[in-house]
Parts: sequence; C-alpha cells; structure tokens
Amino acid sequence: MVFEKNGYRWPQPLKGNQPQIWYGGDYNPDQWPESVWDEDVRLMLKAKVNLVSVGIFSWAKIEPREGEYDFCWLDRVIDKLGRAGIAVDLASATASPPMWLTQAHPEVLWRDEKGDVCWPGARQHWRPTSPVFREYALKLCRAMAQHYKDNPYVVAWHVSNEYGCHNRFDYSDDAMRAFQDWCQKRYGTIEAVNEAWGTAFWAQAMTDFSQILPPRYIGDGNFMNPGKLLDYQRFSSDALKDFFVAERDELSRITPSKPLTTNFMVSSVGVTADYDDWASEVDFVSNDHYFMPGEAHVDEMAYSSSLVDGIARKRPWFLMENSTSAVNWRSINYRKEPGQTIRDAMVHLAMGADAICFFQWRQSRAGAEKFHSAMLPHAGEHSQVFRDVCELGDDLQQLGDAGLLGTRLAKSRVAVVFDYESEWATEHTATPTQNVRHFTEPLDWFRALADCGITADMVTLRSDWDTYELAVLPSVYLLDRANAQRVRDYVAGGGKLIVTYYTGISDERDHIWLGGYPGAIRDVVGVRSEEFVPMGDDAGALHHLDLSNGTVAHDIADHITQIDDTATVLATYKAGEYTGMDGVPALTVNRFGKGLAGYVGCRLGRLGIAASLPALFEALGFELDQTDGSDDVLRVVRVGGVDDVDDSASHGGQPSVRFIFYFNRSRDIVTVELEGEPLVVSHATVDAEHAKGSIEPNGVIVVKG
Ligand code: GAL
Repeated sequence: MVFEKNGYRWPQPLKGNQPQIWYGGDYNPDQWPESVWDEDVRLMLKAKVNLVSVGIFSWAKIEPREGEYDFCWLDRVIDKLGRAGIAVDLASATASPPMWLTQAHPEVLWRDEKGDVCWPGARQHWRPTSPVFREYALKLCRAMAQHYKDNPYVVAWHVSNEYGCHNRFDYSDDAMRAFQDWCQKRYGTIEAVNEAWGTAFWAQAMTDFSQILPPRYIGDGNFMNPGKLLDYQRFSSDALKDFFVAERDELSRITPSKPLTTNFMVSSVGVTADYDDWASEVDFVSNDHYFMPGEAHVDEMAYSSSLVDGIARKRPWFLMENSTSAVNWRSINYRKEPGQTIRDAMVHLAMGADAICFFQWRQSRAGAEKFHSAMLPHAGEHSQVFRDVCELGDDLQQLGDAGLLGTRLAKSRVAVVFDYESEWATEHTATPTQNVRHFTEPLDWFRALADCGITADMVTLRSDWDTYELAVLPSVYLLDRANAQRVRDYVAGGGKLIVTYYTGISDERDHIWLGGYPGAIRDVVGVRSEEFVPMGDDAGALHHLDLSNGTVAHDIADHITQIDDTATVLATYKAGEYTGMDGVPALTVNRFGKGLAGYVGCRLGRLGIAASLPALFEALGFELDQTDGSDDVLRVVRVGGVDDVDDSASHGGQPSVRFIFYFNRSRDIVTVELEGEPLVVSHATVDAEHAKGSIEPNGVIVVKG
C-alpha cells in the first residue's frame, strides 16, 4: 500500500493490547548510559506510559560515519520498551545531520537573507532544497525502514521533527533555483509573475525566470516587494512539504502498513507552514504546543487545540509535544502552577486529541535543553511533577476505559476562521499599522465568544466554515474571487456572518480590491470604507476611539462613509469634531439574500468584542441556548455515536455517549452543574448528590453524560 493522500490511519496498539489513549513523550535514551534504561522503563510503567517517540535527534549515533550504521543500541532499547508493552513512534532520525555530513558537504547548510552560512552547532542546519541533503536523508530513511519494517513494537513513523522550526527561510542558490521552478509552475510565464508581483512598481520587471531572486537582504529601511514575499512564504512551506513527502514516500514504500506523521507547530502565533495544506499529506495530524504564560494560558491552549482539530477535520489527532512545566526558550521560563499539567492535557484531549505526549521523558542533564521540564525531572521520581505525570496516566487510562476513544469534538454552532495566507500577507512591513495583522484578531474572537459561554470551533478558510450557523471572518485580509463568492453564497443562503475590519482587502496576489474596502465583499456587508484610521501612542495623534455602545477601539478603525439601505447601524464613534470620525458607523448588520452579515469596523479587543456580541447576536438572530456555558467556565463536549459530529445534544438528538469537560477560565473558584458521572476531578471537588462541581483556577472536571 502506498501513501493515500487525505487518508487517515492511526497507530494501532501492540499485539494483544486494547486501544488506549496514547500517553508518553520524546525519549532520548542515547543521552544516557544504558544502565538508566531499565529505570526508565520501570518509571514509564509506573506512570502508565504506553508510547514513546525515539531517535528524533539520533542520526549521528545511528550512522556515526558515512554508510556505517549502528542499530544495535536502538534495537536494544526498542526491544526493552516493546517487551514492557510500550509502543514506539520511531523517528526517521533525519532532523539534524551529523558533523561528518556537513563537513563533507557544507553546501547543505542553509543561508540567511544576507547570504551568511548558518553553521552546525545547534540543529536543523540543512536546506530543504539541497539535492545533496535529500540524498543523504532519503538514504537514512531507507536504512531505517529496511531495518525496522518488521519490528512489531514500532507502531508509527515520526518523520523528521518540526520542519522549518529553524530552517524555514533559506536564501541559498539551491533555494533560488527551486523558487524559480516553483514560480514557473504556479504562473507559467514570467509575464504572469510580473503581473502577480506588480513589478511595474519600482522598475522590478523581469524578463526571464532566472532573474527571480529569493527576497534576500535589500538594506535596512527598504521595502521588499510584497507579492514576492507572500510567494516566498508559500514556496517555503511547499519546499519543506516537498521534503517531507519525499521522506514519507521513502518510508512508506518499504513499510506500507506503518502510519506516518510529522509534528506540526499550530498555535495562535505559529505560521511556519500552512499546516492546513500539509494535513492531507499525513496519516494522522500531530501537533506540538507550548503554553503561553499569563492570563491567556487556558484560552490560548483551547484555541490552538481547536485549530488543530479543525485542521485535522475532526479526526483524532496526536498531541506530540507539550511541557509538564517550564520551557527553556523564552526569556523568562515560568513553571506551571499546581494543576496545570493535568488541566492542560485535558484541554487538548477535550479538543479531539487521542494522544497526550510531552517533550521529553527524562529531563536532560547536559545540552541546550537541560532546563526544559520533562516527565521525569532532575529531582527524580519523588517530585510533584512526576506525581502529576502518574496521576495523568491514571486519568487517561480511566477515560480510555470509559470509551473516550471513538468520540470526537462536538461541532460548535460557531466557527472562527484562521487563514495562514492572510497572516503571511499582513506581516509585510509597509501596511497601515504594524500593530495589526491577521492573527491579532482570531484569538480575541475565540476568547470573547467564550466570555459569552460559547466554545467556538477554530477552522481554516479552506474548511467547512460555511456549514456553521454563525461564522466569523476576523481580519481575513486575503480573499480571492472564489472565497469571496463562498462568503456571498453563505450569507445569501441564510448564513449568519460576522466580518471584521481588514477582511477582504486583497486578492490572492495581494492586489487590493478596488472601489472602497472591503472590496471583495462590500455587497455582502453593505458598508464601504474609504480609508484606514490607525491609532497609536504618538503624542497628539489619534490614540483611541470611543464607541456609542461603551466600548473602545484601538489600533485601527475603518472610515465607513457609506452604508447600504439594507444595513442597520448598531454603534457609531463618539469622537472629537475635527477627527472626521464622529458619528461614523462602527458596528453594522446587513441583510443580504436570506442571511445577515455583521460588520465590526475596528479593533475592539477581547473585552470590547464580548461587550458588543449580545447586540450583534440579536441583530443576527443568533440565540444562545442553555447548553452554552458561562463566561468563567469553558465547556467542551466530545460526542460519540454520531457520524457528522454535530453536538446533537444541543439540537434535539441524543448521541450515544458524551464526555463533557469543564475548565475554569478565572482566578476564582467556580461552580458548575455536572451533566454526568465524574471521571476526572483535578483541583476540584464534586458534590455528587447535587450534581455540582467546584473547580479551582487550574482545575478541571470531566464527566461522562
Ligand atoms: C520543540 C522540539 C523539541 C524540543 C522542544 C522544547 O520545538 O521539537 O525537540 O526542542 O521544542 O520545547
């Protein structure tokens, strides 16, 4: 069997075992003497670990000299794990090349935008477009696949690691040639490239594909062609994907029955690759997520994991990495507070993960990540972190036994759209304000909806956002003709849509839709804006705008000068006489066909959105139902027994099984009405008689309903 695009295959349990929620982490036995391995296995079993990812950075140990393979140590450790009932997610081991390779072939090292070589000394020092590197990496894939093809303990392939984490943009000559080919494929003629990039501006016209350069250093304070930059983002995602596909195909040709994945980096700020596009290339989606310290912690995690679920199209996905406590790569590495290790795992699980894994099993003693937390910390077995890890292992087993596998995240009534290309395009430096890009907005909407008791689904522009009762397009800056038509059809057909400022401004080439903003969908929203009104901290300049509904706009507003007869104004600006903004519409709702489209013409932030939502909901005819939670509780439902994963419970039907997760979003204790039998109660208490739960700030309750 060869790889089936868009297929779905999940790692199967070891022979004789029942399917379980996978639980474990990255395991780097090559960092430790073999004498430690037995203790590792003993403690893994104590924590109920049932899967580890092995060999991710082991190329130098597996192939110490060119063509000389040493699988003995890896065989021994896999055997030890497998015999203990611990499955292995085996790496292709290609993430970081050994010194002998880069010494012999320095031409595989990637170059920065100034053309400087990025030398070995850390990891991922290779360029995705290097034919030489590809040859070596594929050779290792072949050797790994040949050696482990019949190994019963290897249940999945972990191909490379976080593609593009460090080598996302390469500006080498290899990259240049590949970019030229990519442009040729996308555009066909150099004239079409010129047209797409608007090269008539600043004498940038090209007469041959060989004149296409990567966006190399152009001097400080200068502005790169935005069309080229946007295409370089697309190209870089595709070049990495192409490399992944080559590695994947090499492995799956030899081991067709083993499912493959590679770990994505989906988060509220993660746009290294267009993971929505990559998702159809893996057997199962897996993600690495690291918590955002501070007050957004639980919301951001829910947001990100919901987006992974959207990318996975609601099929089970794998949390490949998260941390038990502190990371080591921020300037201040906050530890997790008591309860957060278990609560965070439950957030991912609630949002559709069927596997919870950490970076890493045993905390390193040396090397760049020695201060990164792990399942087994420096302090050892007798530590709070390890006790939490064991408790989590028990919880996961219990949820597995109770039937959580086979259920999926229930479909919400509300979708919030995330779009990789809109983020890439708005990262350009010559825009109305650097304080606004696509991803300043979606997390605010997810949080504001949660403030109204709604757990929205985060989905991408390519997905089925137009099947939801209500859809939000938050600063979806790029809308091509087809997507603009989808928006039009959705509302015309009866959909309820909310659109914000900075949506539908440009087409897929980042050419502005003319005639007034938002040019792509002006007819749908029924407003026309002539100018952006940025705001900032410069003394004497416009700092903010008050709205008639009591909220305040910051950073940017649209100067709406015209509204259609079919539109109603819900709020206007109250501004000084000479600002030109007094009385200008800020929030509107337009009837279009059978549906309604709300327009939010400024950046209100989470609290301003939340305060504006009741009026928007009313104008859109969107009613909250009693299953929606409260502002300080995030309620997430996984359902089973239904094919289309609609949350039938809130729409009349009765799915055969439901798991309801309650998370405390506040810093106070909250109480919830429990809708079933409690299974997990962490940093919380339950009054079973009255079906009530009381949840501490970092706590969680999970019930089966
Ligand atoms: C990930 C990476 C891991 C480890 C981890 C630390 O980006 O895949 O190998 O470095 O971060 O947070």
